[in-house]
Amino acid sequence: MELAMKLCQTYGPAGREDRVREMIRSEVEQKSTSVSTDRLGNLICHVQASERSQEAKKDSLMICAHMDEIGVIITHIDEKGFLRFTGVGGVRNAVLHQKVIFENGVIGTIGAETKPQTPKDLTLTNMFIDIGASSKQEAMGKVRVGDIAAFHQDAVMMENRLVTKALDDRIGCFCCIEALKRIRSPILDIYFVFTVQEEVGLRGARTGAYALAPTYALAVDVTATGDTPECARMDVALGKGVAVKVKDMMFIANPKVNDRLLMLAENNSIPYQLEVLERGTTDAAVVQLVREGVMSGVLSIPIRYLHSVSEMCDTRDVQATIDLLVHVCEQGPAMP
Ligand code: CO
Ligand code: ZN
Repeated sequence: MELAMKLCQTYGPAGREDRVREMIRSEVEQKSTSVSTDRLGNLICHVQASERSQEAKKDSLMICAHMDEIGVIITHIDEKGFLRFTGVGGVRNAVLHQKVIFENGVIGTIGAETKPQTPKDLTLTNMFIDIGASSKQEAMGKVRVGDIAAFHQDAVMMENRLVTKALDDRIGCFCCIEALKRIRSPILDIYFVFTVQEEVGLRGARTGAYALAPTYALAVDVTATGDTPECARMDVALGKGVAVKVKDMMFIANPKVNDRLLMLAENNSIPYQLEVLERGTTDAAVVQLVREGVMSGVLSIPIRYLHSVSEMCDTRDVQATIDLLVHVCEQGPAMP
C-alpha cells in the first residue's frame, strides 16, 4: 500500500496530471509491451495478448482509471493578498479550513467570511485562500490567477483502512498498476489507460477510447457507501469486497460483462457486492458511447467521505479489485 499512499499524496488536479503520470509510467514501463501518451495527456499502456490466445486477437479490452483529483483554481487576488477561488471538479463546502498546495509548493489555508449576513450554507464564493501574504503584490509574487491547487493532507494507514485525499481515483490507478504487474498470460490485447480530466467531465476517457476503439472496457473508480450513521440508502459497504456497478447516473453496465465479472468473482472466492449509485458516474459512461459502442463494466472501490480531504477505503476491497482485474485479463471480460 506504500505505492498507493505515494500516488494519493502526489499533486495532480484535473489538467495538471504530469507528476502522477510520470510516477505511473515508471511503475508500469517494464511490464508493458509499449507505453505512450496522447495529446490530451492520457497514459496508455499496452499489454499484448499472449501467444496462446490467437483466437482472441481481434478483440481488445480497455481498462481505465483517472489520474486527476479535485482541486481549486484562483479566480481573483484581492488588495490584502487573499485569493478567491472556485472548484476544479466537484469541490463542496467540506473544504473549509483545509490546506491546499499549488504546483510550485505554495501552501494556503481555506478561510471563510464571518459577517453576520454571510449565508449559513457556506459556498465557495464566501471562502478564500490565505497563503500568508499581506498584500496583493506579495501574493502575486507567489501565485497568479488561473493557478490550480490540490488539497494538502497526510495519508494515514490504520489496520485495514487507508485515509487520505485523492483516493478518488489514485486507488483505482493503484489497482490497475498492481494488476498490470501480476498478469501472466493475457487472453486478449489489453490497454490500461490512465486518464486525465475525469473530474471535470470525463474528458480523457473520450480521446482514449476513440483512439483505441476497444471491444470491451472496464473503468476502475471509487464509489460511495451506505454504511455510515444516517446516510443516504445504498447497498455498498466498506470491507465487503469490490463493488460491481450495475447502474449509476449515466451508465448501465453491459449484462454480458457483468455476468462474467460475477462468475469470475464467485469461481475465485473474491468478495464482491453489487452497486447502484444514484448520483455520480465514471469514465465508462463516455467510453461505452464511443464509435459504434463498447461493451462496458465498472469495478468500484467503496469509499467513505468522497471528495473530502479524508477519503477512506478498506485494503481488503482494494485487494479484491486487483484480484478480479487479473482474472478478467487472463480469462476474458465477457460471457461468450
Ligand atoms: Co471524483
Ligand atoms: Zn473518480
